Amino acid sequence: MNLIRIESVESTNKYLKDLLNCHHLEEGTVVITDNQTAGRGQIGSSWEAEKGMNLTFSLLLCPTSLPIKEYFLLSKAISLGIKDALAPLLDVTIKWPNDIYYQDGKIAGVLIENSIIGKTILHSIVGIGLNVNQEFFISDAPNPISLVQIIGKKTSLEDLLNTVCDRIKERYESLFVDKTEVEQDYRRALYRREGFHSYRDRFGLFSARITNVTNDGFLHLVTEEGENRSYAFKEVSMFISHR
Ligand code: BTN
Repeated sequence: MNLIRIESVESTNKYLKDLLNCHHLEEGTVVITDNQTAGRGQIGSSWEAEKGMNLTFSLLLCPTSLPIKEYFLLSKAISLGIKDALAPLLDVTIKWPNDIYYQDGKIAGVLIENSIIGKTILHSIVGIGLNVNQEFFISDAPNPISLVQIIGKKTSLEDLLNTVCDRIKERYESLFVDKTEVEQDYRRALYRREGFHSYRDRFGLFSARITNVTNDGFLHLVTEEGENRSYAFKEVSMFISHR
């Protein structure tokens, strides 16, 4: 692994993106910091990480042979890699699209930024924030949770980084051999994959059950009345009651 350690940086995703603009970097390059000062979350949100307590890193992938209409397979593989890495410690689920959940708390978030030319994904910057040894959260994020809060003891960040990267590599490489395992495991790993739950779209609240998440990233639901609906990211949210 080509590992670049930075003492302090605004955002590892931004750092890796800027670096890529002026240097050739090998696939698998990782930028990691112990002190991310302006971590970015999905859709303009921020990501809280106390200095030295969590994993905040970005991984460079070059999935040039992944068909663009199936770009979400990458997200499926990454979130399963994180789940696999945590499996010896705890059982997590994946909340569509790629949040890692322990029960109703979010233990990790993933921010994937793709650069696309024509129909090819040239680079993916895969930013991962995994809450490890942080005991208290101060931001207004609704439901953060960390490994130490769950298992009651501290975990080595270095060991966990290696395990997460190894497990992601396995899932990522498997995509180019046979994608069905990733598709099936992702479906099985989904948070609230069974039964009816409350969702909100632009028309209001409704109750629905997940039927599928397709490789274009759409969430497919069926309502209690039997109506099929499908949504892109941010067109629908799941109603979760917070602690
Ligand atoms: C989310 O909102 O769920 C995504 C959070 C992603 C956070 C990680 S931390 C490392 C990388 N650098 C960033 O600025 N963001 C991602």
